[in-house]
Amino acid sequence: MTQPQRTVILLAAGEGKRMRSAVPKMLHEVLGRSLMGHVLAAAEALDPAETMVVVGHGAEQVSAHLADIAPTARTVVQEKQLGTGHATRVALDALPDVDGTVVVLYGDTPLLQASTLAELCAAHEAGGHAATVLTASVDDPTGLGRILRDGDGGFAAIVEQKDATAGQLAITEINSGMYAFDASRLRVALKGLTTDNSQGEEYLTQALTLMLDAGHSVGTHTAADFADTLGCNDREQLAWLRGLMQKRVNSALMRSGVTMDDPATTWVDVTAEVAADVTIRPNVQLKGRTVIAAGSEIGPDSTLTDTIVGEGASVVRAHTLGASVGAKASVGPFAYLRPDAELAERAKVGTFVEVKNSRVGEGSKVPHLSYVGDATIGVEANIGAGTIVANYDGMAKHRTRIGDAVFVGSDSVLIAPVSIADGSYVAAGSAVDKDVPSGSLGVARGRQRNIEGWVARSRPGTKTAKAAERAAGEHEE
Ligand code: UD1
Ligand code: CA
Repeated sequence: MTQPQRTVILLAAGEGKRMRSAVPKMLHEVLGRSLMGHVLAAAEALDPAETMVVVGHGAEQVSAHLADIAPTARTVVQEKQLGTGHATRVALDALPDVDGTVVVLYGDTPLLQASTLAELCAAHEAGGHAATVLTASVDDPTGLGRILRDGDGGFAAIVEQKDATAGQLAITEINSGMYAFDASRLRVALKGLTTDNSQGEEYLTQALTLMLDAGHSVGTHTAADFADTLGCNDREQLAWLRGLMQKRVNSALMRSGVTMDDPATTWVDVTAEVAADVTIRPNVQLKGRTVIAAGSEIGPDSTLTDTIVGEGASVVRAHTLGASVGAKASVGPFAYLRPDAELAERAKVGTFVEVKNSRVGEGSKVPHLSYVGDATIGVEANIGAGTIVANYDGMAKHRTRIGDAVFVGSDSVLIAPVSIADGSYVAAGSAVDKDVPSGSLGVARGRQRNIEGWVARSRPGTKTAKAAERAAGEHEE
């Protein structure tokens, strides 16, 4: 049997009032994706012929976000939120040629997994149903539609909390609000929806009853993990869902060979990759497209965003963004790597060092208290404590070149554009604004002179003057 065409409809027109946010609910972030982004990623695995998103509240923001994360998804506007049934009809009317399986989802269920959707569709298509409801067993069904079953245990109806009797409220099998439908049967059923319920809305759930009444079969599929069906209505639920996702991500990583000292304070985006035999210390966030290679040690207290870390590297108490760290390189403690900071193999960026748009070559070291911006450092160079690359003249940024095995003395300012050639030295405390040729020592600081007897003359009676007197006496003895 060839698999029928599949189409995804995502309902995302609701306001999400309880979030109390200027940002549409679906756009709130959980471990690397928006709520909606997670649902779309799961739906992507169905290889849908078409994905139609119903937008309403915050339509502009939602559409702009979709253009970023799912450019092939189409949107249709539901001007007034007249119910889930109405929203589905608006979408299906915009898809006149669709047949096969239509999967209806919400935009706020970030824990929905691709495997659950695949199982729902498989159950639906194998059963030849007009509709198949994704259900879940929950401890607290408050607020959700309950699944009513007939004497044989088959699906009978869904009753909303607001329309339910006391007996029905005790049912703990709930409607997730996600379904697989036969497209043509759905089209017919949606025409028959009424609004004679306590909310005066067109309920999508009524379509299932209409299908049964017309003699078609309606199946159910129970999610293996009820978390897959959890929606997000307020910020407390947002935090709860984030915690559940954190547990899923972390257990998958630990099972794949990652050591986590403290999973509770380890937050890895679903878009990040961590190889086996990486050790993650407490309080670490790995965000965006971060990739950590085998044998590296990350943390404690580090946030890496869109950062590539090579094998056997170490990143301690660091904040990094758009950087790359070579194999066996070391970063921190207390380092800041900004976009296009590129550390080659065995490079070291140490304590209180900031690097931006610069390459630090193989085995080169910037160990203490430095700023390196718009610079290229060759191999095996040593940049002394307190060195500042002054890349900005107040008008424009300029580049600095530091060659192989260069030794820059402590507390130097390298004023760009400037070049320190291979195999040269810069004397400590220099303010270098002329190129230093290969093999030479660049000295760019005032000469020292000592004014003898100055303390006794100008600071008589001070503790410094007394110390000087004592030193003179000792000298005489
Ligand atoms: C719905 C189900 C309920 C189920 C619950 C699961 C109905 C009648 N009830 O209830 O059985 O247990 O979901 O969460 O379907 N939306 C639109 N346009 C609308 C109305 C809703 O796009 O006109 C979207 C919302 O943005 C939201 C989703 O549909 O993402 C669900 O809407 P909501 O009002 O939350 O449905 P519930 O009443 O919670
Ligand atoms: Ca809801």
